Amino acid sequence: CGIVGYIGTQAATDILMAGLEKLEYRGYDSAGVATIWEGDIHSIRAKGKLYNLRQKLEEIANPAQIGIGHTRWATHGKPEEYNAHPHTDTRRRVAVVQNGIIENYRQLREELQKRGHEFSSDTDTEVIPHLIAEFLQNLPTPKNPLPTPLLEAVRQTVNRLKGAFAIAVICADYPDELIVARQQAPLIIGFGQGEFFCASDTPAIVPHTSAVLNLENGELARLTPLGVEVYNFGGDRLKKFPRTLNWNPVQVEKQGFRHFMLKEIYEQPGVVRSCLENYINDDWHFDGSGVVADLAADGVTDVRDEVTDLAADGLTDVTDGVTDLAADGVTDVGGKLGEKRNNPSVSSPPISKATSSSSAANQPPIKLGIPDSLYANLEQIQILACGTSWHASLVGKYLLEQLAGIPTMVQYASEFRYAPSPLMKNTLTIGVTQSGETADTLAALEMERQRRIDLGAEYEVKLLGITNRAESSLAHLVPHIIETHAGIEIGVAATKTFVTQLVAFYCLALDLAYRRKTLPLSKIAEIITGLRQLPAQIEIVLESQERYIEELAHDFSETQDFIFIGRGINFPIALEGALKLKEISYIHAEGYPAGEMKHGPIALLDAKVPVVAIAMPGMVYEKVLSNAQEAKARDARLIGVTPMNDEEAAHVFDNLLPVPVVDELLSPILTVIPLQLLAYHIAARRGLDVDQPRNLAKSVTVE
Ligand code: G6P
Repeated sequence: CGIVGYIGTQAATDILMAGLEKLEYRGYDSAGVATIWEGDIHSIRAKGKLYNLRQKLEEIANPAQIGIGHTRWATHGKPEEYNAHPHTDTRRRVAVVQNGIIENYRQLREELQKRGHEFSSDTDTEVIPHLIAEFLQNLPTPKNPLPTPLLEAVRQTVNRLKGAFAIAVICADYPDELIVARQQAPLIIGFGQGEFFCASDTPAIVPHTSAVLNLENGELARLTPLGVEVYNFGGDRLKKFPRTLNWNPVQVEKQGFRHFMLKEIYEQPGVVRSCLENYINDDWHFDGSGVVADLAADGVTDVRDEVTDLAADGLTDVTDGVTDLAADGVTDVGGKLGEKRNNPSVSSPPISKATSSSSAANQPPIKLGIPDSLYANLEQIQILACGTSWHASLVGKYLLEQLAGIPTMVQYASEFRYAPSPLMKNTLTIGVTQSGETADTLAALEMERQRRIDLGAEYEVKLLGITNRAESSLAHLVPHIIETHAGIEIGVAATKTFVTQLVAFYCLALDLAYRRKTLPLSKIAEIITGLRQLPAQIEIVLESQERYIEELAHDFSETQDFIFIGRGINFPIALEGALKLKEISYIHAEGYPAGEMKHGPIALLDAKVPVVAIAMPGMVYEKVLSNAQEAKARDARLIGVTPMNDEEAAHVFDNLLPVPVVDELLSPILTVIPLQLLAYHIAARRGLDVDQPRNLAKSVTVE
């Protein structure tokens, strides 16, 4: 759900509606606003999307300068108007919007009902205005800890609530105050001139001001036209200063694209580039000396091949390594010195030994800003995530295991919370969430942290986050984050945040591989070179494929089932392709490891069930082609995500979605692009609401 609030000198309804529009991605099954005007609360709500609410609001002029608004993703109670927020107390003096879940609402509701309160919804939220109204009546004036009765009544109320929530409150008897509170659900305050805003997320605030304050857990604030005061739930005043957002409001506009999702798909080359620029160290040049020294340390005496390879790769400075070898008594360096003389590309301008070795030692190839202590003695990694982030984590597991040699588990956060793996020492736990607000992921991380603290130093807590939102709750919960630098993503189906999560995992795996010396430096250099080519290669996919996929989508507007298959590092991409299609086109789709198809899903196949196979050259290429053939033999229409100009693939598949030829290891960042386009165009073709698919929300801040 999304909440907004305004107090100032402008017409509140306009600002609330504009804010809700920006937050609609958080839920859109009903919406409402409440304002104070001529001494009364005016609450208007509507089932369905904001458009319905807007129409209702247009019927009456409303000059109010204070108000709250809500866009809902149903948790307790159907998406009907009577369940829509804002909710009020029996006398309709207090109005509240809430994002989150009040876990003890049943008990509170019974108590309140016994005392004569009447309820008019099935929601957990409704207990809040009733509690506030009751506290307001019973406050022992004038000796209250907080300066105003409304603030004190809200403080007492939040102390009775269990669960995760962010609330905004107004009261007709205190028309110059807007009270907000936060406990485990996001809430941001915006500072204007003589006007203040609050919202679940920054896009609602950015058009008005770039000075914002993130409320922390256990804090409440009083907004008046004169300023903002922040307190903790205990009643102590806190000193807080707003920070400046470096956001551009244009980022949250469609810029000529039909949907945000398509715009975000097209932003992928740019965001991958900027993510790489942030994390790859330009000053690191693989000069070969490290490899030669490594070899010597390993007792390898004949480094001739290695040196020749280096020269072939155009790597110039191998001099130091060879000299070192000679100094270390390695016997067969003569050959290489001779080669070096005959092959000028090997004899680089001499770099002093100190410089070259210090450049290798002090300038790691990846700069994530993660301290060595987090990596020290690692024996395993566990990754906690949901949805698309869980798919990115599966690619991450492949990379962390294959490049850095660390056993890695990927868990659904919602499962891990209630059935965590047995505790092991020397474990790094990584939370992956683009929004940084997914309740299950945060709770799973918090649980992991707590159970380790309870067991003492032996089970040291090592937490890392991967998120697109540096200011999110995740960033507060874990000491280190890798930010994915994708810019705000509005489309509910994650696209650019997914590919940048993959980039984050490439960088993390390389950083670990470098520090743990699990990969030759030449291999690290090769992967980095490959990563740097990806933005241009994504552009090629977009340019060469979009039209074709748009046409291909016509064929599937009536299709009811799809199967996606892939193996190895592209198995998670099959899952992601299927999820994208399900989410926005409502077509049933399953992702499967290609080799498993014969153990079940193959029974579903006939001419009506298309199969999309990801077949990229590498370890499993031939295997995937054979699995695709098995589907073809059952009359399935075969669509292949294949390398460009691949004749073998052209024979196997009915339709090709080619991507540039890359190392299998890097291919997920390319193979996912045609699958995003396919899902997008099928959904658009079906005339569906691509950016806000039914029943989904972009950040699910409830369990
Ligand atoms: C929601 C969204 C998905 C997203 C998932 C996890 O279900 O609709 O697109 O993958 O949450 O979100 P997170 O912010 O934790 O990555």
